[in-house]
Amino acid sequence: MKTDDAIVVEHQSIQGGYSLLVMRAPGVAPLVQPGQFIHVKVPHLGDSVLRRPFSVFKTDGDRLAILYKNVGKGTRTLQFLRAGEKLSIVGPLGHGFPAPDPKKFPVIVAGGYGNAALYLTARTSPVKGIAFFGGRTAQDVLCVSDFQALGWDVRVATDDGSLGTKGLVTAALDLWCAAEAKEITPEFFCCGPNGMLKAVAERAMKSGQTAWVSLDNNMGCGVGACLTCVVKVKADNAQGWEWKRSCHEGPVFECREILWESVG
Ligand SMILES: Cc1cc2nc3c(=O)[nH]c(=O)nc-3n(C[C@H](O)[C@H](O)[C@H](O)COP(=O)(O)OP(=O)(O)OC[C@H]3O[C@@H](n4cnc5c(N)ncnc54)[C@H](O)[C@@H]3O)c2cc1C
Ligand code: FES
Repeated sequence: MKTDDAIVVEHQSIQGGYSLLVMRAPGVAPLVQPGQFIHVKVPHLGDSVLRRPFSVFKTDGDRLAILYKNVGKGTRTLQFLRAGEKLSIVGPLGHGFPAPDPKKFPVIVAGGYGNAALYLTARTSPVKGIAFFGGRTAQDVLCVSDFQALGWDVRVATDDGSLGTKGLVTAALDLWCAAEAKEITPEFFCCGPNGMLKAVAERAMKSGQTAWVSLDNNMGCGVGACLTCVVKVKADNAQGWEWKRSCHEGPVFECREILWESVG
């Protein structure tokens, strides 16, 4: 983990409130593993001292990119950063996704900007798998061509049917499992809203498959000190569970570890 004064190389708004921010960060970019995140100090944010966590979407030598949605004060302010400006980042942080098991078939399930956490897994996977992207509307479905360019089969589902099949991404997943995936052993890699993660976890647990899920818990320090981000996981103790820090032991957990009834 390092603190770096990154320099903005490119910053563009993509669609529907999402932006792509590419920065030069020679101290951090080469160290990033799939599913890890950086903690960004948003410049010009006045009295707000908290950094904001973002998954590392792509890396290329000394550069890294994040894909973010404008949802509040920090991300709104981030949008004003221009090429050449500096920003302080800490990273890479957290335990990301393990390398896909080459004996299984990798299946990505992502909602909204969740696919930012999964691109590096897709890029490094020895087997080109299938990716299911879900969003409320077509505006929430991002970077399909980036995954297709890696040789992945991408299926899209939107709540309003404006792109791909109409309905939940897990419905598209179920169809594929029933029709096309009978002979294979899937291994799931997921990032998105908790409801989606829970739904994939239920399916994986029921059928004895492995599902790695990246949690999006709110964070304070990002480095394991403040306990803002804790999640209840099963434990071999009297109460049967313990807290784990999403920023440090996570954000990626195998779905069987998590006490899902405690996840909001
Ligand atoms: C490990 C990790 C990786 C993340 N990766 C990405 C990413 O790649 N791209 C991206 O756009 N966002 C990502 N997020 C979420 C991002 O950190 C928040 O959207 C951001 O901090 C909001 O800051 P803000 O000041 O704009 O919003 P705030 O003003 O702090 O909050 C505005 C609204 O957003 C909600 N919000 C704040 N933080 C989160 C969160 N962690 N999850 C869900 N809702 C939140 C708040 O509850 C509030 O409703 C990630 C979060 C985590 C923990
Ligand atoms: S955010 Fe502080 S312990 Fe995880």
